[in-house]
Amino acid sequence: EINFFFPKQQTLAVIKPDAMEDHKEEILGEICSRGFTITQLKELVLSRDLAEDFYSQHRDKPFYNQLVDFMCRGPCMLLVLTKENAVEEWRSMMGPTDPAQAQETAPGSLRARFATDILHNALHGSTSQHHAQEKIQFLFGDITSDLNSDGVFDSTL
Ligand code: PPS
Repeated sequence: EINFFFPKQQTLAVIKPDAMEDHKEEILGEICSRGFTITQLKELVLSRDLAEDFYSQHRDKPFYNQLVDFMCRGPCMLLVLTKENAVEEWRSMMGPTDPAQAQETAPGSLRARFATDILHNALHGSTSQHHAQEKIQFLFGDITSDLNSDGVFDSTL
């Protein structure tokens, strides 16, 4: 009997309404080809209340209302992605928040290719494991019971 230990991590990814229109399939294809497992998936139009809560840490920023309006304008896809180092890998795949910067520094990234501007920036990804768990719990309920206290998913084959 051979035991393997895979320290898997989960992150929350969101395909925003701008990218849902034309790029959904391509983005999903790249997520899978990079070796992420899509553990949970939900496609829905966010209510204003949900979008406001989701971005509550940005409530005092000048762009908050615009961001909430944009996120409610059409369907989003919410995804829980599982992989070793998922939080950092997904952020690196997305590229910088501002697509102008993404085109300079990460031309192959998803935001460089699919985002329009800093508001219509195609994708969201958690900034840390802590935020990922908090947002996954908020959007999907308690699916984190297989994670240990460090937010790491243990599996033994
Ligand atoms: S991050 O990813 O949290 O480090 O990025 P941050 O710069 O803090 O931005 C947080 C989210 O706010 C959006 N954002 C903006 N929207 C409109 N106008 C301006 N100027 C702007 N600056 C930041 C940005 O797209 C981030 O959205 P999410 O969905 O978290 O990536």
